[in-house]
Amino acid sequence: MPDIGYLNGHFSPLEAVKISPDDRGFLFGDGVYEVIRAYHGIPAFWYAHFNRLVRSAKEIQLHFSLGQADFQRLLLHGLQQSGYQEGKIYIQVTRGVAPREHTFPPIGEPTVFLAFRKMVALPTEVCQRGVNVITLPDTRWHRCDIKSLNLLPNVLAKQKAREANAFEGIFVRDGLVTEGATSNIFAVKNGTVITPERNHLVLAGVTQQQVVTLAQAKGLNVQFRPIPISEFLESDEAFLVGTTIEILPVIQVNGKTLRDGKPGPITTILKQQFTAHVSGLAMS
Ligand SMILES: Cc1ncc(COP(=O)(O)O)c(C=O)c1O
Repeated sequence: MPDIGYLNGHFSPLEAVKISPDDRGFLFGDGVYEVIRAYHGIPAFWYAHFNRLVRSAKEIQLHFSLGQADFQRLLLHGLQQSGYQEGKIYIQVTRGVAPREHTFPPIGEPTVFLAFRKMVALPTEVCQRGVNVITLPDTRWHRCDIKSLNLLPNVLAKQKAREANAFEGIFVRDGLVTEGATSNIFAVKNGTVITPERNHLVLAGVTQQQVVTLAQAKGLNVQFRPIPISEFLESDEAFLVGTTIEILPVIQVNGKTLRDGKPGPITTILKQQFTAHVSGLAMS
């Protein structure tokens, strides 16, 4: 089965999708996006992704008329066409096609693009062993709560991590850990699960919220609060979360081993809970 694309009302094989060179997403990064993972054919937490997409669009004054029911139908239709049970759905909405002027075009339709691909998960051994991360200054703008197409600082951070043989770059702003280049971050200290508060400097992660809910259901103490980098480096456990990586233990920061260099017990429990949760997902 092929990867499937959708562009403004039409499904096709992904490679047949043609985007205009005048698309404002291409010219300015003037748009927003989401990534949804499908487990056994079910797009996980799709309503949370839809709500965040709508919010991101509203925050940049981008109007699109796709409702929740149509969005759900699109996801299911694309997945069905692709035949993928384990899939990765990329959704991008831009301010449409117009001659290159920074100001908004007077009229025009947004570009709504979706790509349905097969999910290629990280190797099991990486998920079990955990990963190295590096820290680096958070040079992003002050609206990281908007899932915008402008990802240059994230691209540079991830590349820097790659060059340091690390999996992720962790942003630090004013001495506080914010999030990863492509993930949210958690620390565990004395049994308390801590993740940076959701504000304009951090993306309100869908996985982050699910993990918090699962941790609370397990009776764990959870705090949304700033994490000073000094505290992060002294944490008992740390892990990254995100739609494609799920929960990934951090075992090394800036080349220094965290505790005993093994995924911690709370990370392991939460990972088991998360796996059980997504394997039981049904469409609602
Ligand atoms: C900067 C950033 N933070 C956090 C996340 C995790 O968000 P989610 O769990 O909604 O995928 C992502 C995922 O793309 C991200 O790019």
